[in-house]
Amino acid sequence: MARHIHIEQDRETALREAVQVLSSGYPVAIPTETVYGLAADATNPSAITRIYETKGRPQFNPLICHMASIVMAEDHAIFDPVSRKLAETFWPGPLTLILPLKPDSPIHSLATAGLDTVGIRIPEGFASDLIATFGKPLAAPSANSSGKISSTSAAHVEADLGEKIGLILDGGAAHVGVESTIIKVEKDGSVRLLRPGGLVAEDIEHVIGIKLIRPEKASATIEAPGMMASHYAPGAAVRLNAVSVENGEALIRFGGQPVANEHNAAIILDLSASGDMAEAATNLFDHLKTADASGADSIAITPIPNTGLGEAINDRLSRAAAPRS
Ligand code: TXA
Ligand code: MG
Repeated sequence: MARHIHIEQDRETALREAVQVLSSGYPVAIPTETVYGLAADATNPSAITRIYETKGRPQFNPLICHMASIVMAEDHAIFDPVSRKLAETFWPGPLTLILPLKPDSPIHSLATAGLDTVGIRIPEGFASDLIATFGKPLAAPSANSSGKISSTSAAHVEADLGEKIGLILDGGAAHVGVESTIIKVEKDGSVRLLRPGGLVAEDIEHVIGIKLIRPEKASATIEAPGMMASHYAPGAAVRLNAVSVENGEALIRFGGQPVANEHNAAIILDLSASGDMAEAATNLFDHLKTADASGADSIAITPIPNTGLGEAINDRLSRAAAPRS
């Protein structure tokens, strides 16, 4: 079991101890508004190697580097005007920008998987304070074993990685609940949505005044390696767009709507009884883990509207349901 420090109860201790662990080249699990991150010094190759080892993540899949401010981010990446506008509008928040890496940035090539770009995000709250105190960017993927469901609480992190890491900072439930939206502005000025996430795509389009180019479908290309078809996979099979429940299935529904044959369900969970998308996103990974832990062989999930945050929710669900490799 890892050591846990509650940041609300003991913020100063959390900051001090985390900086100590980070300085000695080890990862720390930290709360962010999207999901928990497994954070380490982005300039230290052995620290980054420990992230990949702890997650069982292939080293060709680059990590997001988290910053405390735009000034700090400018030390490492080159901002075009559109990316700058998005940064100024939405940071701190659930937005990751893929930007050209400055050749003299001390971010280690293990963090970027050798690419000439870097994924950058400024998180809200405690995570930003920790980065400012540490004084260097933190490389942080989601704090879960590679291919498994992301963690939205300290208890999730403990269950998945508690035997492998020394320190988990507990900031309560992550309030966004799905990972950041990933955006890349291309040289020709087109803007690509590499991963739908906690920042609604339409809100981005509204600010930049052009349509985002959306991914064709789940792929395994290097452009967004984390977007591999099978990802976010629970142990149980996942059955999407369910209209009735089969014997012994776990049921995840939406909007308080009853489903045919609910008496068959081993467990019934509602992402949001009132049909609120933000609440559904917050609950998504926790409900998937709870359904999985019920021991059911299959999780039936009712249709979720594809509007607003529904785009990110449906993206994660289709990956959870994809054939496992
Ligand atoms: O909300 C989040 O984004 C969370 C929190 C902890 O910040 N982090 C997160 O990290 O979801 P991770 O590693 O699970 O997902 C990062 C995604 C991966 O799909 C990775 O391939 C992509 O970002 N990525 C990172 N750097 C990239 C780059 N230079 N070019 C393209 N994709 C990149
Ligand atoms: Mg992840």
